[in-house]
Amino acid sequence: MIPAHRRLVARLAVDGDLSPAWRGAFEAVPRHLFLPDVIDGDGGGLPVDRRDDETRWWEAAYADLPVAARVGGGVGDGRGPGHPVTASPAPSGLARVLDLLQVSPGMRVLEIGTGTGYGAALLSHRLGDDAVTSVEIDFALAESARVSLMAAGFAPLVVSGDGKYGWAARAPFDRVFSCVAVRRVPYAWVAQTQPGGRVLTTWANSFHEGVLVDLEVGAYGTARGPVVGGGHAWVRPAQDPLSLVDTYVRADAEFSVTRTRLGPEEPIRDPHGSFAVGVRMPTVVHRTRFAEDPADPRYTVYLIDPHTWSWASWHIDPEFKEEGYEVRQHGPRRLFHELEAAHELWVEAGRPERTRFGLTVAFDHQLVWLDDPHAVFASSR
Ligand SMILES: C[S@@+](CC[C@H](N)C(=O)[O-])C[C@H]1O[C@@H](n2cnc3c(N)ncnc32)[C@H](O)[C@@H]1O
Repeated sequence: MIPAHRRLVARLAVDGDLSPAWRGAFEAVPRHLFLPDVIDGDGGGLPVDRRDDETRWWEAAYADLPVAARVGGGVGDGRGPGHPVTASPAPSGLARVLDLLQVSPGMRVLEIGTGTGYGAALLSHRLGDDAVTSVEIDFALAESARVSLMAAGFAPLVVSGDGKYGWAARAPFDRVFSCVAVRRVPYAWVAQTQPGGRVLTTWANSFHEGVLVDLEVGAYGTARGPVVGGGHAWVRPAQDPLSLVDTYVRADAEFSVTRTRLGPEEPIRDPHGSFAVGVRMPTVVHRTRFAEDPADPRYTVYLIDPHTWSWASWHIDPEFKEEGYEVRQHGPRRLFHELEAAHELWVEAGRPERTRFGLTVAFDHQLVWLDDPHAVFASSR
C-alpha cells in the first residue's frame, strides 16, 4: 500500500467508519486505480489533471471525499462536455453503506451503478468475482470500469444497461446494492432477490432529498424494511434549477390568497418533517428564492407540481409572523393546503424521526408506514 492509501484506511478504521469485516478489502483495493487522469476532487469540485499536478491528484484520490470522475472513453483528453461523469463516493460513506449491506462469503450481490468500478472491486475482493454483478447505464463508464477492474485484478460481471431491470440472467441474488437514487424501487430488484435477501437503496422523490432504505425480501414476493438514514449525497437526484419557478409561476396567472402562521422550518427544512410531508406529495418540488439584498430577511418558498401546473408561493416576512404569511395558490391542486395537512399528520404522530418510517414494495404498489408495516402513512399504486 502506498502511504496515502495506508493513511486513509487507518483513518477510516479509527473514525469507526470501517468495520473489521471490510478492512481487508479497503486495504487490498487501491482507489486510485479506478480514477481517470482528470478528476474533480478536493471536495470543491475543481478539476485536477494528473498530468499537470500529480501531487494534488494523489491527494484528491486518497482524500475521504467524493470524486467526480470524467471518463473520456479513450476520446480526447477526458475534459469537457460529452464525457460521462460519475461520482466515486467518499470512502467513509461507501464503507458505512457496505457494512449495512451485511454480506458474508457465499452471497451473490447485484450492484446498480458501477461508476468507476471501485465499489464492485471491493465487493469482488470480499465475495469473489463470480458473486458480483454490476450494472451501469452509461456504456463508456461500464467499459472504463471493466478496464480498471481488470487492471486491479478483478473480474466481476459488468453489464451495460439500465439497472432498473436488474440482471435476471444471474438471479437470484442475496443482496441488491443500489448506488443510484430511485423514486420507486424497481420491482425487478425484489423479484430477483431470494427470500431473506435484502435490497439497499436511496429512495428519493421531488420533495425530500432522499433516505436510505433497507428492505428485506419476504417469501411472498414483497419486500419491506425501515429507513436506515439519510440518502447519500453522491446519489442525490439532480436538483432542478431555480428557473423552474419562472417556468411555472407566471405573472399573469390567477391565484387565491390566504394567510398562515406555519413557517417552513418543519415542513421544508427539518429532515424528518420534510420527509413525512414529501411522502404525501412526492411529485411536488420546492424552491426558495431569497431577496437580492442579503440583509433583507424576507424570502419566498415555492411549491410546484409540474404535472398539473399547480403552484403555491409562501412569502416569509418576519413582520407578518403573528398576522400570518401570505400564501398564493394556483391550479387544480391546492399545494399549500396539502402541505399543511401533511405536516399536521406528522405533528399528530408526535413528530417522528424518519428512521421510524418504513417502505413496503409489492408487485403493484409501494407504501410508506410508520413504526408498523400495517400503519400506512402514504401509498402509491
Ligand atoms: C454514484 S455512481 C456509482 C459509484 C460506483 N459504485 C463506484 O464505486 O464508483 C452512480 C452511477 O450510477 C449510474 N447509473 C445511473 N442510473 C443508472 C441506472 N438506471 N442503471 C445503471 N446505472 C445507473 C451512473 O451512470 C453512475 O455511474
